[in-house]
Amino acid sequence: MTEQPVAVPVRVTLREKQRRRRIRRGLAYTGVAVAWALSIIVSTVVSLPEPAHTAVLFVHLGSLIVGFGAVLMIDWHALLWATEWSSVRELRQADRTLVLPVWIGLAGLLTSGALLEPDLESPMTQVKLAAVLVLSLNGVALTRWTFELARLPARARFRSLAPRVRAAFIASAIVSQLAWWLAVLIGMLNSTS
Ligand code: HEM
Repeated sequence: MTEQPVAVPVRVTLREKQRRRRIRRGLAYTGVAVAWALSIIVSTVVSLPEPAHTAVLFVHLGSLIVGFGAVLMIDWHALLWATEWSSVRELRQADRTLVLPVWIGLAGLLTSGALLEPDLESPMTQVKLAAVLVLSLNGVALTRWTFELARLPARARFRSLAPRVRAAFIASAIVSQLAWWLAVLIGMLNSTS
C-alpha cells in the first residue's frame, strides 16, 4: 500500500505576519504616491468641454461624499471607543465595512480631479494637493493601527493601550481630519473664487 502524503499545517508566526504587512504597506505607500502624481500629471494635459466638466465635477463631489463620509464614520466610531461609549469590536466592524468606500472615494477624487484642470500655479491649489497627499499616505499609515486593533480582546479599553500607541492613534486621526477638511475648504474656495 502506498503512503498518502500528509498535509502539514503551516503556522504563520506573528512576526512573519507583521513583516508581510510591512511589505504590503510599503507597496501601498508607493501606490498612493504614484496615483497622486499621475493625477497631477494627467491634469496638465486634459482639457474638457463645459458639459463634461460639470459632469466630472459631480463625480468629484460624489466621490467626496463617499470617501470623506466613510472616513468621518470610522473616526466617529474611534471617538466613541476612545470615550468608552462603545467597544473596540464595534470600531473594528465599522473599519472593516467602511475601508472600501474610503479608498473608492479617494480614487474617484484623484481621477475626477485630474480632469478638472486645477490651476497648479495657485498656492492654494498647491496646499490642497499637498493635503491630498498627506491624507492618502496617512490613510495607509492608519492600516497599521487597524492591525493592532484586530489583536485586542473585544472588550479592550482605549486607556489600556500603551501611551505611545494612544498618542500615535490620536495623531493619525487628527492629521486625517485636518488634511481632509483643508482639501474640502480649498476645493470649495477655489471653485467659488
Ligand atoms: C481628498 C481629495 C480631494 C478633496 C476632498 C477635494 C475637494 C474638492 C471640493 C470640495 C471642491 C469644490 C467643488 C464645488 O464646490 O463645486 C473641489 C473642486 C476642485 N477640485 Fe478637488 N478635491 C480633492 C482632490 C482633488 C485633486 C487630486 C485634484 C486635481 C488633481 C482636484 C482638483 C479640483 C478642481 C480643479 C476643482 C475645481 C473645479 C471647478 O470649480 O471647476 N481635487 N475639490
